[in-house]
Amino acid sequence: MKKIAIIALAWSVLGLSSVMAESMVVSKVSDDLSKVNLNSKVWQGVKEYYFIAYPQTAIEVIDADVMKLNAENKAKKIMVKALSDGKNIAFLLKWKDASNSVQKGYSSTAFGDGFAVQLPVNLDSLPYIGMGSAGRPVIVHLQKATGITYEPNGNGDVYHQVNSGNQNAYGKDLKAYTEDVAKLGNGNYQRSFISEGFRSLTQIRDGSEDAKMQMHYAKGVWTGIIVRKLKSANLDLTKGVFPVAFAFWDGDKKNRDGAKVLSQWLEVREKGSAAKLAYLDEMTQGDAKHGEQVMLENCASCHQYKEVKNAPSFMAPNLSNIGGYSNASYLVESIINPSAVVVPGYNTQAHPSYPWYTIDDKGVRTSMMPPFDGLDQKSLEDVVAFLKTLKAEVSQ
Ligand code: HEC
Repeated sequence: MKKIAIIALAWSVLGLSSVMAESMVVSKVSDDLSKVNLNSKVWQGVKEYYFIAYPQTAIEVIDADVMKLNAENKAKKIMVKALSDGKNIAFLLKWKDASNSVQKGYSSTAFGDGFAVQLPVNLDSLPYIGMGSAGRPVIVHLQKATGITYEPNGNGDVYHQVNSGNQNAYGKDLKAYTEDVAKLGNGNYQRSFISEGFRSLTQIRDGSEDAKMQMHYAKGVWTGIIVRKLKSANLDLTKGVFPVAFAFWDGDKKNRDGAKVLSQWLEVREKGSAAKLAYLDEMTQGDAKHGEQVMLENCASCHQYKEVKNAPSFMAPNLSNIGGYSNASYLVESIINPSAVVVPGYNTQAHPSYPWYTIDDKGVRTSMMPPFDGLDQKSLEDVVAFLKTLKAEVSQ
């Protein structure tokens, strides 16, 4: 498999022309980055990289309106800068958003903008982009634009927050509720999780994976930063190269979490490091036209993608945006060894007779997709080349 480390595309959104990269080199500084914030001078002049984040539409979510919004959701260009002081890694991100949506604990109809950063616990295999997978855990850092969020157990867990409308509280009770909100409500929703797949998202409360995150909205653009240790209880990012992935929520677009766009795994490299992570290498262009043909013959009986809708939607994940947030190595693995990473069957239209996987007594999931390990190398590369073309347009 030949590879190209950097895919260069023209970019002109924030008024600058630049290269699009799936690989970024960290600028080393002597400042103590644990003290850095959004406006620190240290960000000035740091090299800008750009990547694209795509709507995640593989798995159907409970809210049909959100699926629709996501289907129509465009991809977003994101600017990123990366700094290291040898102990900490810091990223600054900029993304466009037409409005500043702040999540309020009192309301169940206003949802916040936000961003998340994913880092793999082990560097030897690539975790599933949607919050890790069995045996391939990730640390997820999440920051949301919140007003006051409040939930009754006092842990600040936004998933259990309540609002006054669903309290059935009147008079004295409502007063007590309002006082609790004032006392326990949190205006800065920021969390670190460890996760081996969507169902296993567990908040880390012992401080070992704390990150400093900030976000600020001005003139239609969010700026966010995250600063965290390179080495911690769960992570060791000091090997010269590591993958990172970013997600962004647009609170305008309904749902508890708003519509989301997601990057693929991007390479973060220390200057001068020759360390390699083969699974981040992109493949050379295969013959996407031939790949499309191979897919019609072998895959369209289960998967929907773009205008190909031969199969019912409950059969398998929709692949319409798969090329945007998936690395080539993940696609290869998905085809020749589907059970290596099993996509969580969190689809509302799940059909009892057509599950996406079986679970044995030990909890091990086996994909219902047959391994296509008999495909010749050329057809495999061609299918991956075609899959990489399946992605939403970029909004300007
Ligand atoms: C018998 C039905 C079936 C066929 C045929 C099939 N798949 Fe799948 N595929 C699935 C199911 C079910 C899943 C979800 C479980 C999993 O992760 O393996 C899946 C998952 C995937 C994924 C991961 C999707 C994601 O969201 O990350 C990719 C990529 C994929 N298939 C590609 C293909 C390609 C390419 C072919 C043809 C060469 C193919 N599939 C043929 C059923 C099928």
